[in-house]
Parts: sequence; structure tokens; C-alpha cells
Amino acid sequence: MRTIHIPTSHEYDVLIGEGLLDKSGELTRKAVKPCRCMLVSDDTVDELYGDRAQISFTYSGFEVDRFAFPAGEASKNLDTLRDLLNAMGEARLSRSDLVVALGGGVTGDMAGFAAAIYARGVRFVQVPTTLLAAVDSSVGGKTAVDMPFGKNMVGAFHQPSLVITDTDVLRELPKEQLSNGAAEAIKCGVLEDPALFALLERGDWQERIDEVVARCVAYKRDVVAGDEFDTGSRAFLNLGHTFGHAIEVCSSLQILHGQAVGIGTLMAAAAADCPEAMLRRLADCLKTNGLPTRCRFGAEELARAALNDKKRAGGEITLVLPEAIGKCRLERIPVSRLPACFEKALNALEALDL
Ligand code: GLY
Repeated sequence: MRTIHIPTSHEYDVLIGEGLLDKSGELTRKAVKPCRCMLVSDDTVDELYGDRAQISFTYSGFEVDRFAFPAGEASKNLDTLRDLLNAMGEARLSRSDLVVALGGGVTGDMAGFAAAIYARGVRFVQVPTTLLAAVDSSVGGKTAVDMPFGKNMVGAFHQPSLVITDTDVLRELPKEQLSNGAAEAIKCGVLEDPALFALLERGDWQERIDEVVARCVAYKRDVVAGDEFDTGSRAFLNLGHTFGHAIEVCSSLQILHGQAVGIGTLMAAAAADCPEAMLRRLADCLKTNGLPTRCRFGAEELARAALNDKKRAGGEITLVLPEAIGKCRLERIPVSRLPACFEKALNALEALDL
């Protein structure tokens, strides 16, 4: 088992290894004294892994209640959050009790937000069951729900007390879900880790999934430790996200987050005038990992969607622009330049004829 310590204002460990789901209660007991806990999952994950997690927590002395909600991003809203908070109240959770988020990014974001606001804040443990959650959203304490006026627009920073990633669970994921997570790992490679990128572009990394997760978490640890509350350098983690969020919104969330981030990373590289060889290498890496490389939306439509992005501050927006595999820069541009930026990226990708 690998352990990565996250030195944020509330410090915690990320545990990565085989067979950890069935030990999740035992591992949690080392960080949190046995108490009442609300195990939160979507209905798919609840059916697959809920019993195993409940048995492990119960065996380790926790009193477990369960809350399951319909799977999908559409559930990440105030209605589901209210139902979850009511379930926590009915289960009589107190401030010294615990929320366990067993699932992907939607579950982690929403259960984490419930933990942040219930009784002015209770502890929570993340047990990510998707690669995307394992390499990104389970670490760093961003919690939120989506609002009609934008994704993740209501939320809080609330660090977990522990993150437990069972790599056997990740290996059982359907191909599409592995691809979805691979996009965030490719993002880390482009940002700072050429060796990780090289591993991902070979496409046969599944046997080394613990290394992929650990490298991404180690990178995220460094970024989050330097800018926990996202006022500066944490913006690097948004590589591909300004373009990607716009694609997700234009597709009415039919394009998965990772798929959108993958195309978004490629568009960011194209907008940054990266050499053709690098664009082709990045596109090949996306394709090898089952990710799309084409965007069917127009520049105006994308720019309109992006302007609702919460990362817009005043009349400017911060873009993360690749310079090489393993090196990116931040650039603030006036929002009025965004449509031209999308146009440039789309034209460059069209010329590559991927
Ligand atoms: N997922 C980006 C961040 O945690 O800042």
C-alpha cells in the first residue's frame, strides 16, 4: 500500500493499494474514532460495493446508515443534497460523527459538501471508486453541487480526514470510466510529469494503475499544499477545464467530464500555438486511451458557455496554456478575447484532420 500525506490546513493521508475496500473501516479507525457514520453512494455503486463497505465499517465499530441517490451528474444538486442532509439528521449524526463518500466525483463532491455544512461541519472520508475521483476530485477538499447557473457554483473547501483508493475496484471499471479518469491523468502529465505522460501514451498502464494514481496524487499534493484555497497556482489544475466545461455544457452533460477535459487539453495546446508534433502526440495519447479528439461545437457557442464559468474574475479569465509535455503557463486574457481563442483552437485542430 502507498501512503501520500497531504499537508493542508487539515492534514490527511491518501492510501492507495489492492484490497483496501474490505479494510476501509479498519483503515478509517486509525484516523477517526469509531462513531456513527453515513455511507453515501449513488445507486450503482451502492449495489456493487455498499455492502462490503458497510460490513468493514460495522466490523470496525462504526454504526452505519446508508444513503443512495440516482447515479449521474444530474443528481448533483440542491434537492439531492437536502435529502442527504435530512437522512443525516434522521440518523441523528452529531458533530463528532462521520460521512463516508463511496463513489466517483459526484458522490465525493456532494457528500463532502454535506459534511462541510451539516452541524457546521463534520468529518468525512473519501473512498473513490472511479479513476477520475482517485486521481483528482477526492484530494484537495473541493466540495460542491451544481446550480442552474453553473457547475460547482455552490460549495465549500472541506478537506477529508482520509482518502482510501482500492486499485482492485478501479481495475473493475468499465472501459469508458477508465478513459474518463485517464484524461485527468494525461492532464497531470502535460502539466508537470513527462514520465507519467509517456506511461499513459503507451496505453498499457492498467497493470500499473497504482503508480498512475500515486503520481497524480503526488502532483496534486504539491499544488494544493501551495494554494489550498485556489487563489493562485491551483489554477494549473484547470488545464483543459475552461474549454472542457464549455464542451460539457454545450453537450448538456452528455459528454463525460474526462472526455471534455481531454479535448479541452488539446484545444488549450492548440490555442497556445504548440508545435504540430506535440498536438499530434497529445491527440494520439487521447485516442490510445479511448478519448475523443474532435469538438462538434462552434467557437461562439463554446465561448458563451465558458463565460458562465466560475473561474472568470472581473473582465478577465485565466487560461492554462501548455508549452511542452510537462510544462504549462498561466495567462490572463480579457473575456472579450475568448471567442477568438476558441476559434483559433478549433481551426488548428481542423487543420490537423485528426
Ligand atoms: N479539480 C481541480 C482542483 O481540485 O482544484
